[in-house]
Amino acid sequence: MKIIWIATSNLHKVEEFQTMLGKDVKVKCLKDLDQDIEIVENGKTFEENALIKARSLYAVLKEPVLADDSGLEVDAMNKAPGVYSARWMGEDTPYSIKNQAIIDAVKGKERTARFVCVIAYINEAGQEKTYRGTIEGLIHDKIEGNNGFGYDPIFYYPPFKTTTANVSEEMKNSVSHRGRALAAFLKDWEEQK
Ligand code: IMP
Repeated sequence: MKIIWIATSNLHKVEEFQTMLGKDVKVKCLKDLDQDIEIVENGKTFEENALIKARSLYAVLKEPVLADDSGLEVDAMNKAPGVYSARWMGEDTPYSIKNQAIIDAVKGKERTARFVCVIAYINEAGQEKTYRGTIEGLIHDKIEGNNGFGYDPIFYYPPFKTTTANVSEEMKNSVSHRGRALAAFLKDWEEQK
């Protein structure tokens, strides 16, 4: 059976990738490694960071590797928090505080924003490719919804007429940045089979 490694310790992501890739492939992650690898995420773009993660793992394994990097871009904030989305205002600061800070920052300004996800893939031979998925929305004027995570409660998606935290996981995944990047990767992957 073909093995694909994912440069993450997040079991939720591992499960998502396993479901999308199907039963012919076994997905493994950093938790399956018998050594710790250091990943220094110091890229300035989502593409750079996804590649940094994938390269760190490929260097050790020389087997097919996937990695992803994602975040929220707010136009009125010069596309911040962007690649710093997880670390913005401090990694341990609750999202209720981060989300309120974004609502305050866009008051009276343009509200357009997007989630971005880039997936990097390195094949057995070391060839690299990236796939980008985005979802365009608006910063809501209040925190709304209990599903999702992170910035979902302030991400108003006009076709849903509510935030991505106020719909089911299935509904969010059908239009999400991660779903779209994965679909682009899968199209390529199926063609190469
Ligand atoms: P990473 O891709 O695991 O590095 O996560 C990037 C960060 O971007 C997350 O910790 C969240 O703050 C934010 N983010 C990425 N995708 C989403 C999403 O689907 N909803 C809400 N926040 C997200």
